[in-house]
Amino acid sequence: MENNLVTTAYIVASALFILSLAGLSQPETAKKGNLLGILGMAIAFAATAAISQGYPIQIGSIGLGVLVGVLAASRVAMTDMPEMVALLNSFVGLAAVLVGFAEYLQPSAALSGGDVIVHRVEIFVGVFIGIVTFTGSMIAVAKLRGWVPSRAVLLPARHVLTLGMLGAIAALGFPFLTATGDGPMIALAAMTAIAGIFGIVIVMAIGGADMAVVISLLNSYSGLASAAAGFMLNNDLLIITGALVGSSGAILSYIMCKGMNRSFLNVLLGGWGEGVGGSVDAVQTEGEATPTTAAETAELLNNAESVVIVPGYGMAVAQAQHAISDITNILRKRGKTVRFGIHPVAGRMPGHMNVLLAEANVPYDIVLEMDEINDDFPSTDVVLVIGANDTVNPSAQDNPGSPIAGMPVMEVWKAQTCIVLKRSLSAGYAGVPNPLFYKDNTLMLFGDAKANVSAIQAQLSAAKEPAMVS
Ligand code: TAP
Repeated sequence: MENNLVTTAYIVASALFILSLAGLSQPETAKKGNLLGILGMAIAFAATAAISQGYPIQIGSIGLGVLVGVLAASRVAMTDMPEMVALLNSFVGLAAVLVGFAEYLQPSAALSGGDVIVHRVEIFVGVFIGIVTFTGSMIAVAKLRGWVPSRAVLLPARHVLTLGMLGAIAALGFPFLTATGDGPMIALAAMTAIAGIFGIVIVMAIGGADMAVVISLLNSYSGLASAAAGFMLNNDLLIITGALVGSSGAILSYIMCKGMNRSFLNVLLGGWGEGVGGSVDAVQTEGEATPTTAAETAELLNNAESVVIVPGYGMAVAQAQHAISDITNILRKRGKTVRFGIHPVAGRMPGHMNVLLAEANVPYDIVLEMDEINDDFPSTDVVLVIGANDTVNPSAQDNPGSPIAGMPVMEVWKAQTCIVLKRSLSAGYAGVPNPLFYKDNTLMLFGDAKANVSAIQAQLSAAKEPAMVS
């Protein structure tokens, strides 16, 4: 009876997770999707707690986890959210490693014959995926926080090293499955150490602009690590949940690879094939950047008919989305066509810009993806680039030596006037100089994006339509 109830609860929770993913696929239904996910997790949690033993340990560890989680989540700034997601991915990986070792030392179910081998395979694979997820995610956190360089850090003879490590990991599987005494434990520990280094090496080798794909890939790995833990613990819900996270993360990584014109394998192997090997020195910037003022920007906007706003990571840092939403409203009320163009890897996490714009109540129907808006730049009067850099770098298109060569970018320079809001002429996340800033039709509005957008808003509000007095 108890088991039937738990099975039913697990089925309901699984269905809610699937509905949650469906809801999260559209901005309009994302909130509902989130709520369904929370409900599914609450049911899963209650059902698992009901069949577990050792309540004092459970309550103690869960209580501590809830406390740390609530404190961390309520304090984290929106700009630090990608690091938080990467850190949480790493915890899932570490949990799978710990479950694997615990299952080896003290299996949760009595096994005999072929089942022992199957269980050992589950442990070996689960620990491998878990440790790669853990160390890879920790390096992703370090890269996102700027503790290690965001550019690709390539070891000499790295392909030989990578193949050597993979070979050693596979070879250690044999003693783990067949040896007696301390042999399997030593093999498992050695594999864990090598796979941990493998995770570090492959993520270190991935260059700035490709980090976006890696983060969603590590998210997918964390799902696989959960599924592996589910196999080890014989828990169907963990397997289903892990499979959902793993497959949706893999699909997202694939979509991002396509959006960035990178081959999946190329990113995975940290720049094995084409599209890498570029150098920042190959991107020369010529000429002088032309500075502008908030008043001149407001005047150009007020005289424009069509405006496209291209936000990037700097909008998130400056928290400029509300001020941007306000100028959007003013311009739309004055009959201008205002739209947003979102690059698939703008910001630091998938959908980063969409979330911020939704928070600032920018209508969904004027927020377009790169492919939907790129052809419209030649007929656009003014483009406002707000804190975007790599995603508007023309060297990706016209300089085969650029480290980001081949990555599709927002073709903002094709508009009549392009105004870039940022604090300096410095490079973006990928560390590549940006020739956009020096083009004849580009104006640079230097300073914090929020301060400048607010100044533009004040100028626009004070101005009469259509001509401005600056
Ligand atoms: P970035 O290339 O990261 O450039 C952001 C720019 O914002 C910086 O150059 C900075 O210039 C400016 N900025 C920072 N604070 C600002 C402020 N307060 N006011 C105004 N400007 C400010 O931006 P992007 O175009 O969005 O590209 C994203 C990059 O991150 C890509 O390379 C992408 O591959 C990578 N990435 C993305 C993800 C995901 S999933 N989206 C994950 C990891 C990595 P100043 O310092 O001169 O102001």
